[in-house]
Amino acid sequence: MGMKININKHIYDPEDAAVPVLDRGFLYGDSVYEVLRTYKGRLFAVKRHINRLCNSAARIALKIPDPSEILDQVKITMAAAGNEESYVRIIVTRGTGPITLDPFTAENPLTVILVKRFVEFEKKQYEEGISLLVPNVRRNSRYALDPAIKSGNYLNSILALEEAKSMGYDDALMLDINGRITEATTSNVFIVDENGVLCTPKLQTGILEGVTRGFILDLAERLGLDCLEKDLFPEDLEKAREVMLTSTLREVMSVTRIDGRKIADGRPGPVSKLIREKFRQFAMELIEKESQDKADNDHHGKVD
Ligand code: PDD
Repeated sequence: MGMKININKHIYDPEDAAVPVLDRGFLYGDSVYEVLRTYKGRLFAVKRHINRLCNSAARIALKIPDPSEILDQVKITMAAAGNEESYVRIIVTRGTGPITLDPFTAENPLTVILVKRFVEFEKKQYEEGISLLVPNVRRNSRYALDPAIKSGNYLNSILALEEAKSMGYDDALMLDINGRITEATTSNVFIVDENGVLCTPKLQTGILEGVTRGFILDLAERLGLDCLEKDLFPEDLEKAREVMLTSTLREVMSVTRIDGRKIADGRPGPVSKLIREKFRQFAMELIEKESQDKADNDHHGKVD
């Protein structure tokens, strides 16, 4: 039980897992990754995560193993780890070679799958909401290192989090070079504006296309909520009725303080609560549906 690490199809305990020092993931952050979680012990939104992994890899001209092979290894690693609910991190690096930036010299790509027990964020954070700092450091431009690529190079977010944490905040909400709101260090952001409209930055701003973000946009439409993808600025935070972060690990988490100011009355608002509830409900339904579809397919396979 606990953590298991799969390196190129060999499974290790964490203390025995090692990658070569000359690996380009270690040297340059020359890698792509995904983070998934389970509900009811089953992987959530696998296709969307695997598609994003493939897109990230294609964007940096990195050849990755066949998705079905990766998924088989994920399942083997999950079984070895034996947790009720799992956190799954898939990392593919460009491999090793001489010390040069030249990507064409790389050999031996590494596929690392890290599985550990999924631990929920503290209840208190959902009940009271968290605090954000808008840091001085700006989000990478999509014309430089596009945040839509989920690469292993997270130094931009680390710098933002360093500012936020050193000033006592929970996370950082980064602006782009033009002052538009982008995203938090590992989450997307939504606000409920002064007219009650749910808003989130457009993909063109230069953000990661979050799986959770996508589900929430769909959910908002189905719930009949007014919802817009648009440019947002710090002034919009001042006027907002609610602010929330979304990610695979956080799901939907209210933000109640930004830069030392309260959002509305400083308590998680009704829209955030509704979306969190509906998202959880949706996640459970999707998990059930996906396993039912799989059972049908398996059964069908046997009959044929
Ligand atoms: N982070 N933006 C950034 C920069 C992220 O790293 C993430 C995910 C998200 C939310 O995406 P999703 O809804 O697909 O999880 C947005 C993962 C959880 C992580 O690195 O731990």
